[in-house]
Amino acid sequence: MDHFLYQDGALHAEGVPIADIAAAVGTPFYVYSTATLTRHFTLFDDALDWGDHLVCFAMKSLSNQAVIKVLADAGAGMDVVSVGEYLRAKAAGVPCDRIVFSGVGKTAAEMRTALEGGIRQFNVESEPEMIVLDSVAQSLGLVAPITVRVNPDVDAKTHAKIATGKSENKFGIPISRARDVYAMAAKMPGLKVIGIDVHIGSQLTELAPFEAAYKKVAELTEQLRADGHEISRLDLGGGLGIPYTRSNEAPPLPTEYGGLIQRTVGHLGCEIEIEPGRLISGNAGLLVSKVIYVKSGEDRDFLIIDGAMNDLIRPAMYEAWHDIIPVVEPAPGLTPAKYDIVGPICESGDTFAKAREMPPVAADDLVAFRSAGAYGAVMSSEYNSRPLIPEVLVDGDQFAVIRPRPTYEEMIARDTLPEWLK
Ligand code: LLP
Repeated sequence: MDHFLYQDGALHAEGVPIADIAAAVGTPFYVYSTATLTRHFTLFDDALDWGDHLVCFAMKSLSNQAVIKVLADAGAGMDVVSVGEYLRAKAAGVPCDRIVFSGVGKTAAEMRTALEGGIRQFNVESEPEMIVLDSVAQSLGLVAPITVRVNPDVDAKTHAKIATGKSENKFGIPISRARDVYAMAAKMPGLKVIGIDVHIGSQLTELAPFEAAYKKVAELTEQLRADGHEISRLDLGGGLGIPYTRSNEAPPLPTEYGGLIQRTVGHLGCEIEIEPGRLISGNAGLLVSKVIYVKSGEDRDFLIIDGAMNDLIRPAMYEAWHDIIPVVEPAPGLTPAKYDIVGPICESGDTFAKAREMPPVAADDLVAFRSAGAYGAVMSSEYNSRPLIPEVLVDGDQFAVIRPRPTYEEMIARDTLPEWLK
């Protein structure tokens, strides 16, 4: 469910007409709904209320500080994967004991910053990382709380580029080696083992892979406890998928997911952490764009819009589907048109949809991409020297720009010429 609905014939974000935002900030732009963000966070929080837990928003999916603050104010922790995200979370006011540091390639400098600034835990992904973290912590006279990310060798049944839990993926340590790795960690004075971490992939639309992974984690918890380790926290990752089309998809709900967690690991008495990104932010955002031209090709019509693959890379990168709807509500019974919907960038990959049926639109009409809150703005670039597009946050009947569009001058001024070229 989201808060982007037609009211009086016009698409709104909560109480604000999308067209009003477009008039104020220009197109293209991202717009996020506070009510949807908090609603989705609360669904997870409630789904785990049978026990001690923390929902850590995977801020890689949407990292604007205003969004982080909305979620942190609602009680969320943050899952960060770089020192940049760590500093962003802190800048947005997230308490450091609610920040979890994940990622396969943390550097010593990143570890130092997080240890000095305070951190809830590191999710360690390899023995070499463990050795470096131990030495950085010791050099600071600190002890780093850690979980070890295990790779359970489970098929997440999702797009290959976003599956992470198979043995061929770069993530975590093989679960078969976990006991040795925990034994090694226990001997390191700079580390304190507190739990286990697992994350098997993103946009999972079934519970079965989670179930397989969490059962393995439950078994491992018991083995590690028998080996003398104190396992008091389980970080179960993110990955629950969202419906990208209104019609035929119905991924499991957070309540069902919470029930699965209770059934598989609830008996262990551990504090539960989860790291959802997409399910909190995905349907909380739209990308709004304007039609530049409708161009007739040999055998098809092209809708050329002012948004492009640099603004939303998901269709080009993962063949992802986003519903694309007109901002003016189409009249009932209108015969749909069929378009290839493309951006202005100079490569054929800059295609959002092929032969897409949608209500007919014309030049200067606004269209909105649904489910664009997650992995939209954060993955954007300035390819073709197109400045990053603005982000807008709506709350009820108010809206604010939360990242302005840079001017062309600002974008260009970031380059510097070496002395010898001046
Ligand atoms: N935790 C870890 C360790 C992760 O690697 C990820 C996502 C998450 C949590 C959050 O997963 P989520 O709940 O959002 O599925 N750019 C891709 C998705 C990449 C996901 C990377 N890791 C896309 O646009 O589909």
